[in-house]
Amino acid sequence: MKDKLRPIGIFDSGVGGLTVVKEVMRTLPNEEIIYFGDTARVPYGSKSKETVVRFSIENILFLLQHNVKLIIIACNTSSSVALSVVERNFKVPVMGVIKPGVEEALRVTRNNIIGIIGTKATINSGSYEKEIHSIDAKTKVYSMACPLFVPLVEEGWLNTPVTKDVAAEYLMPLKSKGADTIVLGCTHYPLLKPMIREVLGSGVTLVDSARQVACRARDVLSEHNLLAGKRKGKPDVWFYVSDEPDNFSRVGRRFLGFSLGNVRKVSHV
Ligand code: DGL
Repeated sequence: MKDKLRPIGIFDSGVGGLTVVKEVMRTLPNEEIIYFGDTARVPYGSKSKETVVRFSIENILFLLQHNVKLIIIACNTSSSVALSVVERNFKVPVMGVIKPGVEEALRVTRNNIIGIIGTKATINSGSYEKEIHSIDAKTKVYSMACPLFVPLVEEGWLNTPVTKDVAAEYLMPLKSKGADTIVLGCTHYPLLKPMIREVLGSGVTLVDSARQVACRARDVLSEHNLLAGKRKGKPDVWFYVSDEPDNFSRVGRRFLGFSLGNVRKVSHV
């Protein structure tokens, strides 16, 4: 197969990385995509660095079996703790989601007070603060782990009173610190965007890094001369999971707005 026609590999611990798939499909409409959601082992956000690194390597090896030309780690937890370990160890480029989100947050903040929300592992890693302060040491950063958001999203509870109460509990402290920008530092959280917006009001800008990740992926492919040209028909998008596909298909359809087709269960994990 010609190098440029090889698929892009994207993985996440579950359904959340579909937020990145959606933007990659929009920004790179000629690219085939292989997505892997590690639904048997989600959540990653409460696991140790060693475990998340091991899972991430296994997921990358799975995607490489499908001859991918680029790997996007569409998981903030894995990007926070595993990217620096894995990024130079494979023959294809591997990119994460932290840097694109940080660049966007610094572009849109007006008062240089940024809130970060993510899993416990992402927040404890300090990955966002480090990245922000490497670009602008004066920006104030406040972080909040929101461990209940992921199970709510995996359950498809995107707009229930319970979810709204949980969101208010997590988010109001960041608002009261004066943050005018909040980074949705977990690929599951964009599915809660309407709810989060309702809780925080219009004065706070929400940064969902998926769009920036897709733009960065376009740049990386272009740098490597790997951008696919125009195809006859729509390129294929393949979905794989490590546990039963039903819930993934249901939440995924709701989010992507189309049926995911044949979601395959694989057993590399
Ligand atoms: N997708 C993960 C992330 O972006 C959240 C879910 C998990 O904890 O595995 O951090």
